[in-house]
Amino acid sequence: MGRALSLVGGFAVLGLGTLGSLLLLRAYVEWSGQGVPPWLVAAVAGLLSMALGWFTLPAWWRGVLLIAPVIGWGGLQLHPGWFLAAAVVILLVQFNAIRHRVPLYRSGRDVIEALSAEIEARRPGAFVDLGCGDALVIAKLARRHPSVRFTGFETAPLLYLWARWRCRSLDNCHVCYRDFWSASWRDYEMAFTFLSPQPMLRVWRKCQREMSAGAGLYSLAFEVPGVAADAVIEAGRFDLMRYAVLVEARETR
Ligand SMILES: C[S@@+](CC[C@H](N)C(=O)[O-])C[C@H]1O[C@@H](n2cnc3c(N)ncnc32)[C@H](O)[C@@H]1O
Repeated sequence: MGRALSLVGGFAVLGLGTLGSLLLLRAYVEWSGQGVPPWLVAAVAGLLSMALGWFTLPAWWRGVLLIAPVIGWGGLQLHPGWFLAAAVVILLVQFNAIRHRVPLYRSGRDVIEALSAEIEARRPGAFVDLGCGDALVIAKLARRHPSVRFTGFETAPLLYLWARWRCRSLDNCHVCYRDFWSASWRDYEMAFTFLSPQPMLRVWRKCQREMSAGAGLYSLAFEVPGVAADAVIEAGRFDLMRYAVLVEARETR
């Protein structure tokens, strides 16, 4: 089922479930002469919607249909200030989803293991995480490789503060509140990115311009368009692509 069709179907089922709940409980009120609390209408709407969607919609809808009416009802009870506060927090964390079209999603343990093995093999002096998020990756690597200098660039305000706090006791790990496009990458022998398809060609061009020959760009999940990866390393859910920065490529620019 296509995403648009699934979305339309889900909302239609939710509407039918809610209507069914209202009709059912109105019949009950008329029959018994007793009122019913609004949360019961929401709970029955959730159950009916889930039952209606069980065989007609993708399985992930079941949980959504069950809890959506209850959350909707609960939301109506909340002060609007809570929604504003939640929006501000989301904005401070996912700042770059709007600015650079790169939201926060974190690398897992497999990625850290793969990068650690590469550091072991290549022994760089300095490593940079371009968009370090909460700095989980560089903090773990910095503990394992005390002789390597780790830098992370991050411009989402809450993530930056979190990353600074995480690296507070690591002398070889530094987090900068700075747009990585405006920084020089000259000092790094290994650069790691987990961004999106959109900036990858620009990232690669900046690597070629600024990093020294023999340095490596490691991109998780997203390929540099039109450039063959030097190595593809398995790193759990996504592959880690290694691109070597070459002197020739630099000289032909
Ligand atoms: C997908 S997350 C990856 C986080 C971390 N590198 C990891 O692998 O767990 C990408 C991060 O890059 C940050 N980011 C995107 N564009 C940026 C830019 N131009 N300068 C600094 N940070 C940026 C986002 O805020 C986000 O936290």
